[in-house]
Amino acid sequence: NSPLRIALAGLGTVGAGVVKLLDENRDLIARRSGRPIEIVAVSARDRSRDRGVDLGRFEWVDDTSSLAERDDVDVVVELIGGSDGPAVALVREAISRGKGVVTANKAMIAHHGLELAAAAEKAGTPLKYEAAVAGGIPIIKAIREGAAANRIDRVYGILNGTCNYILTEMEEKGAAFADVLGEAQRLGYAEADPTFDIDGIDAAHKLAILASLAFGSEIDFASVRTTGIRAVAATDIAHAAELGFRVRLVGVAEVVGDRIHQRVHPCLVPLANPLAKVTGSLNAVVAEGNFVGRLFFEGRGAGEGPTASAVVADLIDIARGEAGPAFAMPSHHLEPIGAGEAGDW
Ligand code: NDP
Ligand code: HSE
Repeated sequence: NSPLRIALAGLGTVGAGVVKLLDENRDLIARRSGRPIEIVAVSARDRSRDRGVDLGRFEWVDDTSSLAERDDVDVVVELIGGSDGPAVALVREAISRGKGVVTANKAMIAHHGLELAAAAEKAGTPLKYEAAVAGGIPIIKAIREGAAANRIDRVYGILNGTCNYILTEMEEKGAAFADVLGEAQRLGYAEADPTFDIDGIDAAHKLAILASLAFGSEIDFASVRTTGIRAVAATDIAHAAELGFRVRLVGVAEVVGDRIHQRVHPCLVPLANPLAKVTGSLNAVVAEGNFVGRLFFEGRGAGEGPTASAVVADLIDIARGEAGPAFAMPSHHLEPIGAGEAGDW
């Protein structure tokens, strides 16, 4: 069978992870895909950087944007990041040329997801973003397909591995915030600009994507009320523990009548609640469906392995011809509940 030919744009934590995974599980992936998945071209900013993988086998392309123009590429894998700029231009161009796109870029999907999904649908080409939410947890597929028969009015969880890792290390080891953040960066959990993590913006991107999928509404990142973990001090965590709580950065999206309420903020989670047991870089997502009941998903939410796992799962779907639409186009509009209106939330 003819291979699925891919180009990798971005060879950082996730890009290098994808190369490693495609190498190590090559035969298994070819069997499950029904055909091999082959990297034909790669690109990043710095050609000389050692990325811990052998890239000499692939064509190196200096002009990343040209990946979208190549006739020998079926799918562009965008692993650069950023809600605008080269990543978005590359994806738009790839779609307009009828290429499939796989991305881990939640900032881009939160800002432009429906526009890109509409363009992909028009072009008859897949747009996949499983890695954009909750790392290795296959949550996009679970909500979009597994729970498709349900009305979901509430989805919430721990959506940022960096923050969860910081809060866990501060509690368990008494580590200093800045030191643990540095460690999260070294481990490849943090965003290129870690303020997106610690200010809750990354979790808000993911929450807005999840809410749109769960509720069939527009992606409304702008209305997510967001507070990060900068102000959480070691004493807060210690006092919470004395009172039987853990501090967790939680994102919650709820439908109330014809309105939507989305928020990300540090929460006091009772020790008996499963979210309190989500430690380190783990993420967890809870979705409540009217027939299935409560679904709880947990897994590694950040880092090379889990994220590459989600990216390659998308590639396997495309190779099998099972990609499906990126988003169901919004079936209804939900007016956001704004600041000061939240009542008893
Ligand atoms: P990194 O910062 O590690 O890697 C980014 C890569 O993009 C680097 O290879 C960099 O090149 C390249 N790059 C940056 N700017 C440009 C540009 N203008 N033109 C060409 N290449 C460019 O990021 P990650 O791998 O961590 O993240 C990639 C994407 O995946 C982001 O959207 C992120 O939000 C998302 N993601 C990350 C997760 C994680 O745990 N790390 C988890 C889930 C999603 P160079 O190396 O030469 O500098
Ligand atoms: N920086 C993100 C996090 C990566 O820490 O969760 C995974 O999306």
